[in-house]
Amino acid sequence: HPHPVLASSTSPALRFEILARCSTTKARVSKLHLPHFTADTPMFMPVGTQGTMKGLTTDQLRMLDCHVILGNTYHLGHRPGPEILEAAGGLHRFMDWDRGMLTDSGGFQMVSLLKLAEITEDGVEFESPHDGSRMLLTPEKSIELQNSIGADIMMQLDDVVSSLTTGPRVEEAMHRSIRWLDRCQRAHRYPDRQNLFPIIQGGLNPDLRRTCLDAMIARNAPGYAIGGLSGGEEKDQFWRVVTQCTDHLPEAKPRYCMGVGYAEDLVVCSALGVDMYDCVFPTRTARFGHALTRDGGLTLKFSKHGRDYRPIDDACSCYTCQNFTRAYLAALGTKETVGCHLLSIHNIAFQMRLMRDIRESIMDDSFPAFVRSFMHRYFIGAG
Ligand code: GUN
Ligand code: ZN
Repeated sequence: HPHPVLASSTSPALRFEILARCSTTKARVSKLHLPHFTADTPMFMPVGTQGTMKGLTTDQLRMLDCHVILGNTYHLGHRPGPEILEAAGGLHRFMDWDRGMLTDSGGFQMVSLLKLAEITEDGVEFESPHDGSRMLLTPEKSIELQNSIGADIMMQLDDVVSSLTTGPRVEEAMHRSIRWLDRCQRAHRYPDRQNLFPIIQGGLNPDLRRTCLDAMIARNAPGYAIGGLSGGEEKDQFWRVVTQCTDHLPEAKPRYCMGVGYAEDLVVCSALGVDMYDCVFPTRTARFGHALTRDGGLTLKFSKHGRDYRPIDDACSCYTCQNFTRAYLAALGTKETVGCHLLSIHNIAFQMRLMRDIRESIMDDSFPAFVRSFMHRYFIGAG
């Protein structure tokens, strides 16, 4: 080991080792040893399968040097379902992925995707998008599904309200998330091979966040997530909540900021001490012909790029930039499946490289200079 371990934590199914810290921010570089893989953090975790043209194959995700991917609990729980998944030896073997995997609990997707979801103390009730029948996702059911998927990290079922919600509903959702965490921990069948992360809730209210932090830290989990953000709140409110959470969470355990994926947020939250991120943004935006670059976004249009024979980014080593021009991608357009795949590959490569740059700059203690030059170029431009 060229780097001494500065701090570490060991749980039955995870070991977290901090290898470097920035001297002026809370940023750190760590090794996250999971049952299937050792991941470098801070890291971005792309969505593994979306069942649509935005999705990438496992081979492509390996080539992009992804260490951990997200599986979709609700989608897989419905089809193929828990019996087939378990008989297949879990999702790792089913989809031929030998690295890290994380599954969300499924409730958040239902509430955010379907306006028809209804939350009771029992769980999240919603109309199945497949056949219209009423379905009840309880903490126990979510863990049963996630146990059969077999991801390295599972998320608790939480009661999520929009970050713009105010009043007693925010407090109710926070307390209910604590009760649902207890039910999830009791239902968990494989604590020695799967990690269950709590999700800190409490909206934008520091007192509610503090209560939730204290209660969930007392449950002694292998790692913690920060939830209920990226819902249209002001950036300074977002940063305040992340700061409060990383100030109070145990230093030597991994911290996961859910649903965060804009480049500027990855940079700032890493400075605030966050280790893990996920977001559909890079692949979703690819569907609209949008490419991520260090000079900001680039929307490929035939009218503008039809004769532009440069790659999206001449410094990018991804398959797309090595082989195709902006003109070709603009000609394919967004209705063509191949065009979306090629843009998704580039956008995931962009996120992966950003995270690698963050890690390398923390390692050689030049992270503050990296933040300044990244922000300048991203928002103001290279020229
Ligand atoms: N994805 C983004 N935010 C959240 C959250 O607060 N809870 C869950 N379960 N998933 C999320
Ligand atoms: Zn590229």
